[in-house]
Amino acid sequence: MQPAWPHAWYIACRSSELRSRPHAVSAAGQHWVLFRDEAGAVHALADRCAHRGAPLSAGRLCGGQLRCPYHGWLYDGSGRVTEVPALPAGMRPPQAARVPAYTAREQQGYVWVWSGEEAPEHEPHRFANFDAPGWTHFRMRTRFEASVEACLENFLDCPHASFVHKGWFRAPAARTVKVVVRRSSDGAQAEYFDEPRSGSVVWSLLAPRRSAMRHVDRFIAPNVSQVDYAFANGLHYTITSCCTPVQAHETLVHTVVSFRFGRIGPLVRLVFEPLSRLIIRQDVRMLAAQRVNMTRFGASRFVSTRADLLAPHIAAWNAALREGRDPPAVGDEQHAEIRL
Ligand code: FES
Ligand SMILES: [Fe+2]
Repeated sequence: MQPAWPHAWYIACRSSELRSRPHAVSAAGQHWVLFRDEAGAVHALADRCAHRGAPLSAGRLCGGQLRCPYHGWLYDGSGRVTEVPALPAGMRPPQAARVPAYTAREQQGYVWVWSGEEAPEHEPHRFANFDAPGWTHFRMRTRFEASVEACLENFLDCPHASFVHKGWFRAPAARTVKVVVRRSSDGAQAEYFDEPRSGSVVWSLLAPRRSAMRHVDRFIAPNVSQVDYAFANGLHYTITSCCTPVQAHETLVHTVVSFRFGRIGPLVRLVFEPLSRLIIRQDVRMLAAQRVNMTRFGASRFVSTRADLLAPHIAAWNAALREGRDPPAVGDEQHAEIRL
């Protein structure tokens, strides 16, 4: 059967959630049990005991290995059974006694899992500007009743902000803005030139009034979005969202907001973090309403215009990865204009 989601790195949990107990995670159509061995390294196995199918996540850790709660089979981080308690001493577990293991990585405070049993094709996404001096960051975890594709389109779509976040993040200025869209080796990006930023709460609090701004939205296939605002005076924001599909229309989004505000960064965070949560809740409500309506009307085709800049790239990448085709090639620049 064709997997519902492409094999990729997905954030399974935060590092802080994985301590001395096994941790169950359902993502990308799979059910994993995550645990740490005695050295603290993370491991991910299928959460189903090879013996009679009990959930390994209901078991416990013994010397850095995972013991099934039903008959006590013991698993190492590679998914191999190292002990069957009911067998007489000296008798080894059968060769077939193992469960699928998935590659796991711990990086920048998250545990990532590669959703295929094969070796990963690359490393997980690294959050830009995460630990750099002068930068502050905070994390958000948001549950959306929407597909990964719907979430990414929303995060990388400027026109919705004038309506869903009217007055908070963007106010309709009805100015035509130039945009350059480029296909890259790992997705696509849109760069906006001279966009309006007056009349919104966020920009009046968090942006310099006169400094020039560079704004680039990036889709990093198949499940990451990055929004980057850099000002000529050194102020800089990078907002990265990593989507983990839970079910077809349920996505857990881990967002890292990094910004360079120098020493007063922690103070700025006191305003910025609650504002960001307010704005993301507006998207949660909009996407939930969209989802309910799609259920009522059925999955019909959408009508797009040239103002839907990155959505076609997101759709093309995901279709290619799901169907096992080559991803879209690196392409020419496309120049567009949209009104914001
Ligand atoms: S079901 Fe796990 S040991 Fe029997
Ligand atoms: Fe939004």
